[in-house]
Parts: sequence; C-alpha cells; structure tokens
Amino acid sequence: MNDHFQSIEEITKESIFVLYKLEYCPELDFQYTKKEYPGDLTFILFSLSKKLRKPAEDIGKNIGTYVQNQLKGLIRFSIIEGFLNFIFEDGYYIFLLKRMLNTNFYHLKLPSKKIMIEYSSPNTNKPLHLGHVRNILIGSSIAEILKMVGHQIIKIQIINDRGIHICKSMVAWKKFGKGETPDDVNMKGDHFVGKYYSLFDKIYREELSKVPKEKNSSILNEARELLNKWENGDLITRKIWERMNRWVYNGFEETYRKLEINFDKIEYESNVYKTGKEIIKKGLKKGIFFQKKDLSVWIDLTKEGFDKKLLLRSDQTSVYITQDIGTAVERFKKYNIDKLIYIVGKEQDYHFQILFKILKCLGYSWVNKLSHFSYEMVYLPSGRMKSREGNIIDADSLFLKMYSIAKKNFLNKYSKLKEKKEQDSSAKIIGLGAMKYYFLKVDPKKKIVFYPEKSIDFKGKTGTYIQYTYSRIRSLERKFFNLCSLLNDYWSNIKFDVYEKNMIKILQKYPLILKKSSKSLNPSLIANYVFEVSKTFNLLYQKKRLIDPLNLVQSNICMNIIHVTGNVLKSGMNLLGIKMLDRM
Ligand code: ARG
Repeated sequence: MNDHFQSIEEITKESIFVLYKLEYCPELDFQYTKKEYPGDLTFILFSLSKKLRKPAEDIGKNIGTYVQNQLKGLIRFSIIEGFLNFIFEDGYYIFLLKRMLNTNFYHLKLPSKKIMIEYSSPNTNKPLHLGHVRNILIGSSIAEILKMVGHQIIKIQIINDRGIHICKSMVAWKKFGKGETPDDVNMKGDHFVGKYYSLFDKIYREELSKVPKEKNSSILNEARELLNKWENGDLITRKIWERMNRWVYNGFEETYRKLEINFDKIEYESNVYKTGKEIIKKGLKKGIFFQKKDLSVWIDLTKEGFDKKLLLRSDQTSVYITQDIGTAVERFKKYNIDKLIYIVGKEQDYHFQILFKILKCLGYSWVNKLSHFSYEMVYLPSGRMKSREGNIIDADSLFLKMYSIAKKNFLNKYSKLKEKKEQDSSAKIIGLGAMKYYFLKVDPKKKIVFYPEKSIDFKGKTGTYIQYTYSRIRSLERKFFNLCSLLNDYWSNIKFDVYEKNMIKILQKYPLILKKSSKSLNPSLIANYVFEVSKTFNLLYQKKRLIDPLNLVQSNICMNIIHVTGNVLKSGMNLLGIKMLDRM
C-alpha cells in the first residue's frame, strides 16, 4: 500500500503528470458513480481526452492501471463510454479511514501568501446592525478558511471615526444632550450616540419638509461647520469627538465580544486621512487631478467610463475616498502583503472600482493585489432595512432575540440539560450558532431574507441540526468508551455496509471542499458540506446498530468513523465561527 496516504484523486493527478506531462486538476472531473454502473468513484475522461487529443478509452486504461498499481489490491476499475469507474474493495475504505484519523488530513499545505482581510469597518455614529453582522461573519470565516489552508492572515478593520456622520451625532448631542452620558441613562455607548444621530436626522427631515433645499438646512450647516472645526483642530470639538467616539468603541467592543470575533489590527480614519490628503495634493501638482474654481479637487474618469469624482471638498475637508487612498498606501508600506481583500457590501462596488482606478493613475505597483469582495444585502421579512423607517435590527437586540428563541424553541422542548447555568450558556451557543449558520450557508453573492425563528430548527438545514448531530456523536463516544476502550488492530477482515461506505466517502471529501472554498472565498461551501455530513451520519445512525456489545470489533470500526465525523463537523463549524456542544 502506498504509505504516503494518497487517495485516488491525488494519484490520478500524479498519473496524468507522469504519463502525459500535464498539470491537470482532476478534482472537478470526479463524481460518485451513478447507480446504474458498477463502482464507487468515477473520473470523467471527456475534458482530458479533448485536451490531450487522445481517445478516452486509452487514457482511461493508462490512468486506471497506474492508480491500481499504486493502490495494490484496493481497487479495480472499468471504463464505460468515457467514464473511468473505480470500484473500491473494502480495504480501500480502511485505507481512507486510517488516513482521516491522521491529523494531517485537515491541514493542507498550499503555497502560503500573506493576505490582509478588511471587514466590519463601521462608522462611529450608530450601533452595528444586521448588515454588519453578515459582513463580519463572512470576513472572519474567510480569514479562518484561508488560515486553514496555510496562508498567513492579517484581520483588520478601519474605524471611520471622522467625517460628517459623527459630526451629525455631535451636533444633536451638543444642542439637546445637556451633558448626558451613556451611564446616566444606562445605555450602551454606541446606542447612545446612535440615538443622537437619529435625532439629528429627524430634525433635518423636518427642516427639509419646510425648505426643500439641503443648503438651507441649518442643522446640516452646523454639522458641516463642526467638521471644518474638527479638521482645523478646534480643541473643544476634538474633545467632544473623542468622548463620543470612546463611548462608541466601548459599545462596538462589547458587540464583537458577544459575536466572538476579533481583529489583529485596528486602524482609525482620523490617523490616515491626512496621508490621503497629501497624496491628493501631490497628485494635483502632477496634473493627475484637477481643481475647480471653488478650490474643490477632482479626478476626471469619464474617459474610462466613470464619472468625475470629488476628492477634496471646496473647504479642503476630505471625503470618504480620500482616506481609502491613504489607507491603502500605508498598508502596503507597512505590512509587505501579497494581497488585500476588502469585504464590503455591493452598494460600494462603484466606490472600489473608482478607488482602484485612482490608485492606478497614481502609479502604485501593488494595485493588482487589491480586490473588493462584494456581497449581497440582508433583507427582513418586512423588506429592506432602512434605519429611517425604524426597519432595522441592531446586532445586540438580534443576539438577545436569538438566545431567547434558542431557549423557547429548542432548550425548553428537547434539551436534556437541567441546570439553569448550563441552559443559559447553551442558549448562547445555540442561538449564536443558528444565526451564524443561517448567514453563512448562503452564497455571499445571494440575498438573504432573515427569519430568526427559522434559523433554529433542529430538523432543518440549520446550525442547530448540526450541533445536535455533533452532540449525539459525542454522547455515543462517551457510551462506547464506557463499554470498552478503543481496540487497536482489527482492521484486516472488516466489511463495510453501504451507510458506512457513504459516510467514509463524504468525510474524505473535506480537504477538497476546504480547497474549493478557499479558492472561491466562499464559506457557504463548508456550511453546505457539514450539513451533508450530518445528514449522512444521521442516516447511518438510524439504519445501524452502532454500538453492539456482541460485536466489539465492528463497533470499534464504527466508532472510528463516528470519531472522524465528529472531528470534521467540529472543524468545519469552527471555520464558520460556530461552537459545538458535547451535550445538548
Ligand atoms: N465605514 C464604511 C461604511 O459604513 C465602510 C468602510 C469599508 N471599508 C473601506 N475601506 N472603505 O459604509
């Protein structure tokens, strides 16, 4: 037997290289053999045959023989109309199972890159909401997946702590707050500052309804004045700004903690916007940008199919894109990264297209290392989230809601957990897990309509179902270990039934799924895979007596399969940021 533990897929790849001197990625051409044909796994020969301009039959024979020689006695093969069918002997399942018990099974060693992933990056004028939650979950899951396949990852967020948005909250607080602090009203700091942002918005709308011109809105003008004062370093303005931002940071930290996510680096727009401004001033001198009579600075991208874009306002205050220019430059100067991925919603597609264009015009060599990972929005059953209409769920209330649904719909009905303390901590793990799974099982490019109640259903395609399956596995293991400790070497005469075979087959796909999801930056592949693993396991569980005191050797093999299943579920869910419970 090949002691490098190579599987059929890997040996096939090797055979194509050895026989035909071709780097070919056969993974995509493998599928489970159709029921009508003999076999377990099928390699589809068509695309390879086309590429090599050789008959499929010949290629199939050569590859089949090569693989068979490597895995002596473990497989047979047959070729039927362009399909190379591998027929596994039971020994091949033992081989696969042993391979999966080896921890290297999980850790792929792809060529490592240093990748920076930016996500979350909130504004400091209000609390995080459902949309941020999707962003954060996608960002941190992608980071974990890339780490798992061997990349070096820097998780970063830039906090947009300066600009007109925070000045709006500041104006309202100055005018109406009477010195009130979050502690005075027992509110989280980000919610507190958000309250004043809403108040600003309400007054602004009232003003607009009377005089429908932005520039006549006195409260907006006050906010603009404040921004100007801020950029000119006005001490009192800076003090209020610092204080209100501090409240918000404390609030954000608490939300991140509850969501169990973190960052390696945190940047603040207030520290980098000046770099952006300087770059623009230099670009203006070089003629890359142009200035209007009112002194505002622009870039003309009409030749490239875009608009003219404002880079500095007439009062020389900087805009959103100004800071992104500075930030990108500093990041490449400081971190020596191979790649920078911005996880930002698709409403900012245009922003990033323009940003990359501007950086290109400025002549930076690393522009091709930038990418914007765009994703779709979250909708509520009542429609798109709009803060103005109050149709918005903030992250903190969402978590509370999830905990309470976990209690009501799962723990109170099905759980064996008796102690209140354990129930409470489990409610958090189940509620949060359900929410994370609900978000991550959907392809980032697709819209989500969020129904909190639907996400916790231990019979549906939910995180709860997978957690439940996992706790069932751990409970079986506890029982078996009580019965007798693991037997060692009874591998040789083992027979597998179809449920066990299916289980081993699906488990051994894990590294392939990992690779695919890391290449496409798509956590939903993992989410859907762990669901399939759970389903396959539950079928095995229903159909078979897994622990049979009269057949300990067979039970032992089953326990090995179950053990790997538990590990794969835990590892996969961990990549989605979801914790597992040993008991539920
Ligand atoms: N703070 C911005 C917002 O809330 C998102 C920032 C995204 N990241 C960036 N580098 N522009 O819309």
